[in-house]
Amino acid sequence: MAVTTGQLIQWKQQKRPIVALTAWDYAIAQLLDTAGVDLILVGDSLAMVALGYETTLPISLDEVVHHAKAVRRGVKRALLLVDLPFLSYQESPQQAIHSAGRVLKETGAQAVKLEGGYPAMVETVNRVTLAGIPVMGHVGLTPQSVHQLGYRQQGKTEEAGEKILQEAIALEQAGAFALLLEHIPDTLASRITEKLTIPTIGIGAGLHCDGQVLVTADLLGLSEKQPPFAKSYINLRQVISQAVQDYSVEVRERRFPEA
Ligand code: KIV
Repeated sequence: MAVTTGQLIQWKQQKRPIVALTAWDYAIAQLLDTAGVDLILVGDSLAMVALGYETTLPISLDEVVHHAKAVRRGVKRALLLVDLPFLSYQESPQQAIHSAGRVLKETGAQAVKLEGGYPAMVETVNRVTLAGIPVMGHVGLTPQSVHQLGYRQQGKTEEAGEKILQEAIALEQAGAFALLLEHIPDTLASRITEKLTIPTIGIGAGLHCDGQVLVTADLLGLSEKQPPFAKSYINLRQVISQAVQDYSVEVRERRFPEA
């Protein structure tokens, strides 16, 4: 059965951890979906891992939609969620509804994610949700604000932690169906997870979130550089490089194709 936003909330109640990963094309999406991943995010990190941009800022809504359409073709069971890229939603709630609506109409995704909290994004989340579009919030380290925050852990002081907790509560009240917590202390993520009735999905936020997400390029060891909290389960850069070298040798020595 296809995963729904309601199912994610039920899994939180049942304390059944949610498995989430990012995807940027059809092949990766199909592999993740058939492996049983619950939530597949077309993250704007694809700007860096698939398109070679330095940050997530340059990617356009058109580029995200293009990749999300390919991912959609590979996903049958998981909930498909798409990131709204930088400046496709910050100008006004109307702009956010338009961009999020475009994502749902053109890609067949079930939900969108947007970064930021109180006060700027609370009204926006509310308005997009009221338009019938499920929204996941994203607080803590928000990479679209890299020029203000860097890639440093957020919420380290009492005051900063309290601000993130209040943002989380406000986003839940605004109608978000889930919340991504990025690079914040484990204790803060745990407090937020206990306080909210919607699921928290953590990345660099410790063990006590309701689910975990990784950028799939990091998990596969494909990224040129990755954050300290990511874990690679295989080094595909090495595997691919070896395969390409083996092929090159065989072509040059006329050993491939076999006679
Ligand atoms: O864009 C992305 O890949 C993200 C990660 C934090 C999962 O939002």
